[in-house]
Amino acid sequence: MDDWTEGYIADVDYPQGYYRELTPPFLAFALLAKGIRPPNPSGKLRYCELGAGHGFTCNVVAATHPEAEVWATDFNPSFAANARRLAESAGTPNLKVFDSSFEEFAALDLPSFDVIVLHGIYSWVMAEHRKSIVDFIRDRLAFGGIVYLSYNCLPGWAPILPLRRLLNEMAQRATGTTDERIEKALTEVEGLAALGAAYFDANASARAQLGAIRQMTREYVAHEYFNRIWTPLYHLDVARQMHQAKLTFAASADLAHHVERLCLTEEQQKRIAGIDDLAFRETVRDVFLNQQFRKDIFVRGPERLPVSERRELLLATRFALVVPCNLIEASAEYPQGRYSLDSGPAAEVLGGLAAGPRTLTELISSADAAEFERKVEALVILVGAGRVEVALPAAGDAARAERAKRLNQVILERARHGDQLQALVSPVLGGAVRIDRLHRLFLLGEAQGLSDTASFAYAILMEEAAAKKAQGKPVRPPSPLGILMLAQKFEQEQRPLLAQHGIVEPISA
Ligand SMILES: C[S@@+](CC[C@H](N)C(=O)[O-])C[C@H]1O[C@@H](n2cnc3c(N)ncnc32)[C@H](O)[C@@H]1O
Repeated sequence: MDDWTEGYIADVDYPQGYYRELTPPFLAFALLAKGIRPPNPSGKLRYCELGAGHGFTCNVVAATHPEAEVWATDFNPSFAANARRLAESAGTPNLKVFDSSFEEFAALDLPSFDVIVLHGIYSWVMAEHRKSIVDFIRDRLAFGGIVYLSYNCLPGWAPILPLRRLLNEMAQRATGTTDERIEKALTEVEGLAALGAAYFDANASARAQLGAIRQMTREYVAHEYFNRIWTPLYHLDVARQMHQAKLTFAASADLAHHVERLCLTEEQQKRIAGIDDLAFRETVRDVFLNQQFRKDIFVRGPERLPVSERRELLLATRFALVVPCNLIEASAEYPQGRYSLDSGPAAEVLGGLAAGPRTLTELISSADAAEFERKVEALVILVGAGRVEVALPAAGDAARAERAKRLNQVILERARHGDQLQALVSPVLGGAVRIDRLHRLFLLGEAQGLSDTASFAYAILMEEAAAKKAQGKPVRPPSPLGILMLAQKFEQEQRPLLAQHGIVEPISA
């Protein structure tokens, strides 16, 4: 095919997501927890994102890692232009963006990378491009370097494969824009289900999925269900492909998977412990969990850390709360039961972090090895559940503050026009935290020196509602009292955390 899109949907915009799994501190923690030596997340990293989409995450990584050299490519020129515009508006000099295909990118004069990340790429490209990606990693990843690779996997997607094929075929036979063809395809396939197609009777999850698609955003549906290329893969096959680039699977970036007893029964744990072939063991694990999506971290030459060095590195790692303590639920649910967050090691960790970011050294009360492991496990679970985030060392906070602040100014300014960039950048975390648009509007008002930020946000939302109404679209106008109450809640609950993350100034006493 001579069209650069190669069947890739290019006329429906893709969400400008932020993915914390792509950030160096998160990746380093996932490896450290497993006892594998990670690259130093605050060092002079050479970092590369393949298929960066709109590039929000690589912008966050570049802004919060001023020492790093960040390279990113996406063959969609609109996405690449958007990524570059964000870096230019924020004045982030250490991000280089390209609109090259993987093959074109490989031909450029590139450094040898310490970290290569690909999110939502590997099962969405043709086999020949997967091969180019493997070649790229083999030629461009430094030894000791790491790769983050997420992909749709089997067996979880197996019952959905025919549904997806049907939707695609129907869409290809329909006319109009991608959006119109999606609508027609959904209606056609719903019609087949209503005619008593035995496939839907035999595969309840496919019927449920067909219903669920109607509730998903059109952008997500377009890219997940209507791209021509969509290949869920067995981990076994991915691991073999990565082996060709001299990589070994080292850890999951889905941190809940680090705690076996929460995911598998005792018998299941015993069964997979007896499988020597690591890639097959992971694949059987996916069968036990009916896994649909994997977030794998591979290493080129994994180095197992001595117990004492792992301990030292973890003790020096800093963590921060990202959800106010009073909003954290009493327990978190996993396939094999609940883990208590309001008692035991998790509660102690949360209590220790309430006043601000702390290293693990500051969170433990004794030199007892058992307490250390319990706290590490609690942190793995809390970070995995998105209640706590890994932070970079405090010594670099000031050096990271300026670029993070500039990027946040751009993010806040963009909140005026829409809700695309849904996170603010933290020099403390070396990443970003999700924050509602309304809260971003309060902060934008504040940055403009206004004291009544609730009225400022209300005026913007009212203007939008009026514009929609004029276009004949349904609108639910905002309530001024509701916004005022949310502004007060924001001050009490969110602001103290944002101050801990270095995103807003702390309130002086
Ligand atoms: C599912 S999207 C994921 C985007 C982004 N990583 C994210 O998760 O938000 C896949 C991306 O890969 C890009 N892409 C697909 N094939 C490519 C190729 N051969 N070379 C470069 N980019 C490609 C697409 O333009 C698209 O932005």
